[in-house]
Amino acid sequence: MSVIEKFTTMEYGPAPEDPRESLLWLDSHSRRFGHFINGKFQPPAEGKYFDTTDPSTNEKIAEISQGSAADIDAAVNAARAALPAWQELSGHQRARFLYALARQIQKHSRRLAVLETLDNGKPIRESRDIDIPLVARHFYHHAGWAQLLASEFPGYEPCGVVGQIIPWNFPLLMLAWKIAPALATGNTLVLKPAEFTPLTALAFAELCNEVGLPPGVVNIVTGDGATGEALVKHPGIDKIAFTGSTEVGRAIRRATAQSHKKLSLELGGKSPFIIFEDADLDSAVEGLVDGIWFNQGQVCCAGSRLLVQESVAQKLTRKLQARMSTLRIGSPLDKAIDIGAIIARVQLDRIHGLVQQGIAEGATCWQPEIVLPSRGFYYKPTLLSNVHPTSIVAQQEIFGPVLAAMTFRTPQEAVQLANNTVYGLAASVWSESVNVALQAAAQIKAGVVWVNSTNLFDAACGFGGYRESGYGREGGREGLLEYLEPTWFKSAGLLVAPGFSPASSSSTSPSPDVANPITNIDRTVKLYIAGKQARPDSGYSIPVHGRGGELLGEAPLGNRKDIRNAVEAARKAEGWAKATAHNRAQILFYIAENLSQRALEITQRLTAAVGEKQAAQEVQISIERLFSYAAWCDKFDGAVHNPPFRNISIAMNEPIGTVGVLCPNETPLLGFFSLALPLIAAGNTIVAVPSETYPLISGDLYQIFETSDLPAGVINLVTGRSSELLKVLAEHDDLDAIWCHGDDALCSTAKALSAGNLKQVFTNEGRTIDFFNTQQSEGRWYLQHAYQVKNIWVPYGE
Ligand code: NAI
Repeated sequence: MSVIEKFTTMEYGPAPEDPRESLLWLDSHSRRFGHFINGKFQPPAEGKYFDTTDPSTNEKIAEISQGSAADIDAAVNAARAALPAWQELSGHQRARFLYALARQIQKHSRRLAVLETLDNGKPIRESRDIDIPLVARHFYHHAGWAQLLASEFPGYEPCGVVGQIIPWNFPLLMLAWKIAPALATGNTLVLKPAEFTPLTALAFAELCNEVGLPPGVVNIVTGDGATGEALVKHPGIDKIAFTGSTEVGRAIRRATAQSHKKLSLELGGKSPFIIFEDADLDSAVEGLVDGIWFNQGQVCCAGSRLLVQESVAQKLTRKLQARMSTLRIGSPLDKAIDIGAIIARVQLDRIHGLVQQGIAEGATCWQPEIVLPSRGFYYKPTLLSNVHPTSIVAQQEIFGPVLAAMTFRTPQEAVQLANNTVYGLAASVWSESVNVALQAAAQIKAGVVWVNSTNLFDAACGFGGYRESGYGREGGREGLLEYLEPTWFKSAGLLVAPGFSPASSSSTSPSPDVANPITNIDRTVKLYIAGKQARPDSGYSIPVHGRGGELLGEAPLGNRKDIRNAVEAARKAEGWAKATAHNRAQILFYIAENLSQRALEITQRLTAAVGEKQAAQEVQISIERLFSYAAWCDKFDGAVHNPPFRNISIAMNEPIGTVGVLCPNETPLLGFFSLALPLIAAGNTIVAVPSETYPLISGDLYQIFETSDLPAGVINLVTGRSSELLKVLAEHDDLDAIWCHGDDALCSTAKALSAGNLKQVFTNEGRTIDFFNTQQSEGRWYLQHAYQVKNIWVPYGE
């Protein structure tokens, strides 16, 4: 072959990695592993084992313990017993353990990389150069957070014992994303690796012993979904952190609804990869190789939906097909291959089935002429074009090396198509114009947007989704907060019902207080929807009584239809998010001014419900709270991270969207403002159900809003029976989040019923919040729940 021919074909031979050291390590364990509980490998309680296999050959590698409820119980008990001593360590002492783990991972990086590739089938190039370095980086970064915890998070404490469940696509990396922040914040934990890929977690367990980590701080129980379920349901767990499919995420959400377990979910995605006509097409094609063929496309944030501008679609397709033809598929231990094996037969069948469905729905399938290895589970890199936006391959996560391509004409259409999904994990945007790229990045509903790049991760930059891709972030400051709770909140007692009965349960109707014209029954309160006072659809009103049982007036009985109208109005008002922070602040100041003007009459009316002293305090502190959130509007800023690449990552605080709010009963005015204001300051729009005990407050509220330039639909008020209206709000598919303040039963209902579209839920967990205490009822903790962080990665340099 001539030199010219060699340059053209770029042929090269195999470069196999020698797996001997890793195989010796497996042999040293006799290829059979127990659970890692309390610092020791222990045989499974029920004596059951299952095989873990090499997906590139389908050969058995080792036997793994099947975890039972008894094993989970032993592990949780060990974690509980280890908790006090672990928490007593200083941040510095914990930092030293995390640092030692990072060092130990680096020392054994090659063994870990080879084990990962054997167990998972991913190319050694990826496990060696991406997964394991990121694992070490995560422990280094969190060693730093352990050191700084006390000074950077005063007033917070760890959740306690954490249950962590991870998937098979990045086994050790997902372990690091879970374990490093949990340890840095002083939690102990039980982790369950995926049944397909337990080996590196078990190797990590050994490293924990090597660095002298106290027994019980990290426990690893292997097994399948049933083992995960036992962990989720164990009463000794304070928090669950899960990464995996949206379907299982939803099941976990339901299973934890009746408990006080804190929950973070990192779920599936169908991330758009948008190429504008002015993009550098060759770079974009390389981006696609990383975006969809990295890890065989088994990546939650894979750029699986290609959206390309029509004017360059043909040219791009030609370049892409040429590049796909050069992709090398084969033994994952070969350092010269691009695409390794699919995790298991079941996943291969799933990919095949979805592609066939896509073709049946009209897609054109193209695959390069590549010969697949004769054994193991392999799938050719696949391009589906002419995909309809509603096709199953455009909507459902395939989790394989399959790219579904669509075209668009204008940037607006690109954003519409990008957001036409229930997911919102990531996006990649390609354009040589910074304006075009950033304009799209700002409008795409996703937790991570990569500009002219893709699949970049760093411990300092939060990762996580919008919508059905889950909630909570991993990495960065926001990731740490998932493992912390405010100290006052953890120790708050359960809510005791107020001393007066709610309107709905009252059967007697004492005569109105005719002597006092302010509380006279003639006062008509309505619903407040889309900036207008509205009669309730039901045509019913409910009596509202004062503390002494006297009738204060009647409030409309809102129903499903009213909530639907209110949600529609709130959605239409989403321009509020685009109003400048200064503008939002001005309106909150104006509301404060108007509340101040009416302070006397509102206090008088509220007195009948809560007494004179509380009424006066509620009004006064509400005015202060309005000032506080007016102040916060333009001060709760994001951050700019400097990951170790030639990028900056802009962490932007974005509103969640449209939020349903169940207000506290016991503080009708102040409770409403305490929940509504952080949401409004952040740019969300809301549908609020005011205090069921004193719903007449809404009449005072909307009169203030009407004179304060608040745009129609930003705040909507529907009075009625909290539990009935909560049900409608929680089940409504067009709401993004629920904030619910109430007793334990109400909070559990909010969590359980909103699992359908995985709304974010923020509740008081049935605990007492003192709304007169600023530390408990105002500021960052609320704002953190009112925003979600979007990280936009922007490259620099040539
Ligand atoms: P999965 O969600 O079933 O498994 C993830 C983890 O959850 C595993 O450790 C599993 O044992 C555990 N698990 C399963 N059922 C559970 C339950 N009821 N309670 C607690 N834990 C449970 O994902 P699977 O079956 O491995 O893959 C199915 C599909 O999920 C994939 O084809 C892909 O589309 C998606 N997926 C998404 C991932 C992501 O990172 N977003 C990761 C893995 C899978």
